Amino acid sequence: MDTDPKWTVYQKRTASGRPRPLLVEALSYVKEKGAAMDLGAGALNDTQFLLDLENGFREIVAIDITPQFKELSVPPNVQFSYVQKRLEEYQFPIDRFDLISAQYILPFIPKDDFNNIWMNIYAALKTGGVFTGQLFGEHDDWFGRENMTFHTKNEMGKLTSKFEPLVCNEREYTEENERKKHWHYFDFILKK
Ligand SMILES: C[S@@+](CC[C@H](N)C(=O)[O-])C[C@H]1O[C@@H](n2cnc3c(N)ncnc32)[C@H](O)[C@@H]1O
Repeated sequence: MDTDPKWTVYQKRTASGRPRPLLVEALSYVKEKGAAMDLGAGALNDTQFLLDLENGFREIVAIDITPQFKELSVPPNVQFSYVQKRLEEYQFPIDRFDLISAQYILPFIPKDDFNNIWMNIYAALKTGGVFTGQLFGEHDDWFGRENMTFHTKNEMGKLTSKFEPLVCNEREYTEENERKKHWHYFDFILKK
């Protein structure tokens, strides 16, 4: 599969091993630990974190457009699969997951595919299941980039209306480094 080399660079840069704090927070809302999914799994830090949980998930699926970034340590009682696919091409199972994590991946889905993937995620969650991730807002420096999707607060409200909102935090700041990238995004944790 032809993948953008920027993702390999990104994965090497983020190979620090720390799980995303929003995923850690989302776990406190997860009641059943049957199956979990890590969408756009990147350097696999979150995937390894989920695999390492004590009394954790029985099944974990990680999906990314790139080949698996590193070998993972998989406990014998966990069924793990890595799927190298675009989310746009992935056949999401129905009513299967207790947790779906989409950390910094959904804004990188082209606009034409976004709503379909959002509906597929909803359908793949069990009732009571938890969905967490980010959407980028219109003040983000990358707003308007080709093949990315951005949302206003209003659009975010409409998208999430079928869920029970557990956390929805709007973040806006400028990086304090040479790049000075301006970030505008919504962190969310939702329950089906
Ligand atoms: C910004 S990174 C986030 C990685 C990781 N979730 C994290 O929080 O660090 C986005 C990841 O999504 C993957 N990706 C980008 N577009 C994708 C697509 N259409 N389908 C599946 N994965 C994609 C990239 O290879 C990359 O690993």
